[in-house]
Amino acid sequence: MENKLENVLSDYTDEDYSGAETPEIFSVAIDGPAGAGKSTVAKIIAKTLGIVYVDTGAMYRAMGLKALNLGYDPADPASVIPMLPDTEISIAYVDGAQHIFLDGEDVSGLIRTEEVSQAASKISAIPEVREKLVELQRALAKKESLVMDGRDIGTVVLPAAKYKLYVTASAEVRAQRRFLEYEQKGKLDGRSFEDILAEIIERDDRDMNRPVAPLRPAEGAVIVDTSELGIDEVVAKVLEIMGAAAK
Ligand code: DC
Repeated sequence: MENKLENVLSDYTDEDYSGAETPEIFSVAIDGPAGAGKSTVAKIIAKTLGIVYVDTGAMYRAMGLKALNLGYDPADPASVIPMLPDTEISIAYVDGAQHIFLDGEDVSGLIRTEEVSQAASKISAIPEVREKLVELQRALAKKESLVMDGRDIGTVVLPAAKYKLYVTASAEVRAQRRFLEYEQKGKLDGRSFEDILAEIIERDDRDMNRPVAPLRPAEGAVIVDTSELGIDEVVAKVLEIMGAAAK
């Protein structure tokens, strides 16, 4: 597989973390805004390459959930920072799917609400929170080859990643996808398309404009706009970019 992937653009100019890359262990870093299709692409790429997929958003979601459970404002460093030494976040794979554990409890089923999405976005702007989770993410990447998705994987967590992608789409297209997904899952809770669009824009704005590790394409990242593409086309494009076009 490594040989097949050789002709790919990769970038090693962000030198602050030379990290996990060895001839045997490599990473695929995928960043982008909410709803762009990152996790769908990342999961398929991981499966195709036979390596694990790590969803870092779930870690920030678990942190946000804890703050909400304690009645804290997730944007308030004064309440969040003291909580960190007693907070344990870990992941495990159950039937190939990532499960996220908060203080020993599997909270995978509790983190996909809009309330937790916004809490994750708020708490992720606190540098001490990021420091703790980046350490965990780098430790995972050191152990084995993986596909990791998030907002700062190519820029901060694994700047030496062999492959870096920035998967994006227009806010309207992302809101439309979210709207349909929530509708199908009965999770709309009376919200209109405009409400979902406003939530997406709010989260983009916070994730892109925070002082620490804002969402932006990493140097050398290949930008994939999924606005006009179906998932199969996106995956084919990404594999082609990676020099491993599915035959
Ligand atoms: O990918 P997601 O929607 O599950 O992420 C939830 C929030 O967590 C997102 O709005 C910003 C934050 N996040 C982050 O700051 N850095 C990451 N690497 C992943 C997520």
